[in-house]
This record gives sequence, structure tokens and C-alpha cells, in this order.
Amino acid sequence: MNDAVSIAALLDARYGGDQRAHPVLEDPSLSRMLGRRTCRRYLAKVPPPEVIEALLDVAFASSSKSDYQQASVIVVEDDGQRQRIAALVPTMPWIASAPAFLVFCADARRLERVCATRNRPAQNRNLEALFNATVDAALVMQTFIVAAETIGLGCCPISAIRNRLSEVRAILSLPERVLPVAGLCVGYPADAGTISRRLPRRLTRHRDTYDEGDFAATIDRYDRERAKVAPIPPAKQRAPERFGTGDFYGWSEDKARQVHEGDGAAFGAMVRDAGFTLE
Ligand SMILES: Cc1cc2nc3c(=O)[nH]c(=O)nc-3n(C[C@H](O)[C@H](O)[C@H](O)COP(=O)(O)O)c2cc1C
Repeated sequence: MNDAVSIAALLDARYGGDQRAHPVLEDPSLSRMLGRRTCRRYLAKVPPPEVIEALLDVAFASSSKSDYQQASVIVVEDDGQRQRIAALVPTMPWIASAPAFLVFCADARRLERVCATRNRPAQNRNLEALFNATVDAALVMQTFIVAAETIGLGCCPISAIRNRLSEVRAILSLPERVLPVAGLCVGYPADAGTISRRLPRRLTRHRDTYDEGDFAATIDRYDRERAKVAPIPPAKQRAPERFGTGDFYGWSEDKARQVHEGDGAAFGAMVRDAGFTLE
């Protein structure tokens, strides 16, 4: 994976086009991260609990907003607990079958308790509190993923558990102001998986000012180039009974249909129910 040719191939798979590989990408850690992919099929071999703990030691070394340290993790070891969560998301059987399953949480409760303990009561319940804790949890989860992939494990984040927030909170006994950001399936990959093409650099990287450039044409080109290497088959078109079946069905149509459906409508109410004011 570390010679210049294979790194150029990784760049091509990730971004398309004629790629020149900068020598820094020859660093094995960087080339591994460049070629990473989400893993949803696992060997039966279970990662030892001590390995999960060691990876969590790395993950919780992530940077943290104001050193508030507002991430918590639930390592779901009990199979009954896991199956209850998996049953909430039947379209994702990898939740039940992954050898290990964790839930990374935004924990705005702990800081409030610290304030109370110091006899300097303060609320940590507004939108910024939720945002801060969510960013911390996401960073910890991403560091866990990178660390896990470094030692040959594969991972799949599961934000779908948030669609059933109340039930997940009850199953995991999450107190007020502790919210799951995502579950994480972990195990040894059963197949090589594929690199998922990212948006072109000109859409995601800006110099000095935000510049969308020729947005529609760039997205259209991305759709068509991505479809050449990873076409979405007609049977996988989203909700054809509502949107019809397109002759050409690319990334943008798939994402537009997904967002148009708007599955987060109940989220605000569930978050308020979990103790955040969102002001
Ligand atoms: C916050 C977050 C939530 C995700 N939730 C799910 C999920 O609920 N189910 C799933 O199968 N994949 C989930 N994924 C994985 C994405 O689908 C995946 O990262 C994306 O398709 C890009 O593929 P790649 O990671 O292989 O490059 C999630 C990823 C992130 C970062």
C-alpha cells in the first residue's frame, strides 16, 4: 500500500482523475487512512475486551472543547442489550452480528454535576452545550475508528439508533443530557470492502473565501464518474413508489431523496425530552 503507484490508485479511487501522490502519503498511517472504508461484514472472531479498552484509551486522548471532556461510551457487552438495540433497526442486521458494539454519547450531564459538586451551579442544557458535547463524542468515536483500523479491525458507525432515541435511552439507562451520537459496530473484516468516492476537492476545499464555483455541473460530473465505478443498481433506487425510477440514478439523486424524506422531524422533541432546552 505504500509505494507511489498504489497511493496514486488510492487517490484515484477516493477522488477520481489523474492523481499525483505527494510523498507524505507514503507514511503507512496516512495511506491506511486514505484507503479506509466502512465495514459491515465481520469474521466471527471477537476482539478481546482488553483490546477494546486499549483502543478507548487512544480514543479518549482526542482533543476536547475547553477541556470539558463531554464524551462517554457504553460498551454493550450483554447480548440481550445488544439485540434489543438491533431490533430497533431491522434494516441494519450488522448491528446484531458485529462481534463488538459500542455507543458513543454526548455527555452534557457530567459538566453540570461538576458545577454542582463545586457549589457553582450552572446549567449545561442549551444548544451550544449539546453541540459541544456532540463534537467531543464524534471526535472520540472517529479516533477510535482510526485506531481500530490501524490494528486491522473494521467499524461501522450507526447513527440510525438516533431515530429511536427514546427507546435507546431506556435500554442503556442513559440519564438526562446524555445522548447517543452513534453506535459503532466493530470486528475483523470478512471482506476487503470498497473505497467510497468523495466529492471533488473544489467543492469541499476553499481558499480564503467560500466559493461554490460551477456547483451543478461539478455535482453532475461527480455523479457520473462515481457511477462508473460504483453504480447504484435500479433495485437500490430509494422509494421508487414515490419518486419513480430514474434512467440515471447517481449520488445526488439518492441523497436528495433521502433528505427530502426528512427522517429527523421528531429529533428536536426527543432531544428536549432528554433534558436539553436547545435555546
Ligand atoms: C455519524 C455517522 C453515522 C453513520 N450511520 C450509519 C448507519 O446508521 N448505518 C450504516 O450502515 N452506516 C452508517 N454510517 C457509515 C456511512 O454510511 C459511511 O461512512 C459512508 O457511506 C461513507 O462510506 P465509507 O466510510 O466507507 O467511506 C455512518 C457514518 C457516520 C460518520
